[in-house]
Amino acid sequence: MRLTSAQLEQFDRDGYLFFPSTFSPEEIKVLTDEVPSLYAQHRPENVREKGSDAVRTNFAAHMYSAPFARLARHPRMVEPVVQVFGEPVYMHQFKINGKMAFDGDVWQWHQDFGTWFNDDQMPEARAMNVAIFLDAVNEFNGPLMFIPGSHKLGVLDAGHDTETTSYPLWTIDHATITRLITRGGLVAPKGPAGSMIMFHSCLVHASTSNLSPWNRVSVYLSLCTVSNHIRRFKRPEYIAHRDFTPIECLPDDCLLRPYEVALPWKDGTPEAALR
Ligand code: SIN
Ligand code: MN
Repeated sequence: MRLTSAQLEQFDRDGYLFFPSTFSPEEIKVLTDEVPSLYAQHRPENVREKGSDAVRTNFAAHMYSAPFARLARHPRMVEPVVQVFGEPVYMHQFKINGKMAFDGDVWQWHQDFGTWFNDDQMPEARAMNVAIFLDAVNEFNGPLMFIPGSHKLGVLDAGHDTETTSYPLWTIDHATITRLITRGGLVAPKGPAGSMIMFHSCLVHASTSNLSPWNRVSVYLSLCTVSNHIRRFKRPEYIAHRDFTPIECLPDDCLLRPYEVALPWKDGTPEAALR
């Protein structure tokens, strides 16, 4: 998938691109069929919501689940990022966020690069998020909210919030968010399962809790340019990967055909990846 020059300009201006219905229902079913068994596992990669059994986020499924390992090499997700940066990318982080019906909790206002810079010593914002919706996203089930153009501001001051949710995050204060929204507005891309979003790692974003009866499961690939790899291994490897090998894409039909993929963590997470 090649981005047009109009899309590249739009990305530069807004900090994100939305691609409705990029994956077919058959392709999405291959992934959604796999999620319940992943979420049922008791392994450290499943982070549960505070005070609940609902999975907030599952890390690194591409290391132990064949459908997600193929998704991690999908040209529709990886090639636009390589195009923007003009350089090969590796998988910095891979997650399947639950935002489950009734139980899905907030993600506070933040920039992903804030965390990657502060915790992982990623040198520059030459990394990108690509998300796909495994469920339809509507105004009720906690859509991701973006402040368009906020990626232009670089790394904003943030505080380390270890209290609000079960997952620590470098979050941005309310006065700054108010100022940014007054200037840039607020958007929340919504659409059917199979829709895709690409967003800049400095784009300020958040999502509210999910009080609806509809799950909002989405997958996020965080792709970093190889030369910009992280310098510090403070967080466990299943959260911030240490293998900087460039991703080699599979063919476009890789979700529908059983291409061979390595599953190095299939029988459990190696001890070294837990530290
Ligand atoms: C994130 O910011 O990493 C996740 C937000 C969400 O899934 O709503
Ligand atoms: Mn984020």
